[in-house]
Amino acid sequence: MVRFAEKHELDSVNVLRRQVNELHVQGEPTIFKPGFSEELADHIYTVWNDPMQRIAVCERDGAIVGFAVLHHIQKPENPFMYERDYLDIDEFCVDEAYRRQGVATELMDFIRAFAREQGFRRLELNMWEFNRDALAFYEAMGFTTYRRYIKTDL
Ligand SMILES: CC(C)(COP(=O)(O)OP(=O)(O)OC[C@H]1O[C@@H](n2cnc3c(N)ncnc32)[C@H](O)[C@@H]1OP(=O)(O)O)[C@@H](O)C(=O)NCCC(=O)NCCS
Repeated sequence: MVRFAEKHELDSVNVLRRQVNELHVQGEPTIFKPGFSEELADHIYTVWNDPMQRIAVCERDGAIVGFAVLHHIQKPENPFMYERDYLDIDEFCVDEAYRRQGVATELMDFIRAFAREQGFRRLELNMWEFNRDALAFYEAMGFTTYRRYIKTDL
């Protein structure tokens, strides 16, 4: 079952956030810091206290096995762009032990329904290029790439 998190569940959400951080450290070790600092753990409480952000969780077997951070982004018009207003998926993870069992799909169905109900016209997220599993999942959900970061190492 997918629903919005309760405050006492944020430590369980952090168990999943640690898995994402480890994956990022492995994929981009010169960018991401190893370990899971107190500051990183506490960030989930900043999210909790921000009225523009919501934390969705998926519960299975009485445990929190997946989560997503949803962030309402509003950017004013500027000389280059129209005003932008969309729902961004800031963080997303399913517990290693529960992958390929439809948990992320259930989360995404919930997010889409919530976003539509709130009147959003667009869901966005950004991801790291090394993360092929995540890309395969997002593409399976109908997401397409619309913007890129490119680099050359010197
Ligand atoms: C990406 C992730 C959220 C997918 O979660 P999941 O619960 O395993 O996904 P689902 O079971 O709902 O998969 C739905 C479909 O997506 C695709 N998919 C999901 N994971 C995939 C993988 N590793 N490789 C290829 N396709 C994949 C498949 O089409 C799958 O359908 P199928 O199982 O019937 O073939 C999960 O692997 C994860 O948490 N990864 C680590 C954290 C992460 O990368 N988060 C995103 C950061 S941007």
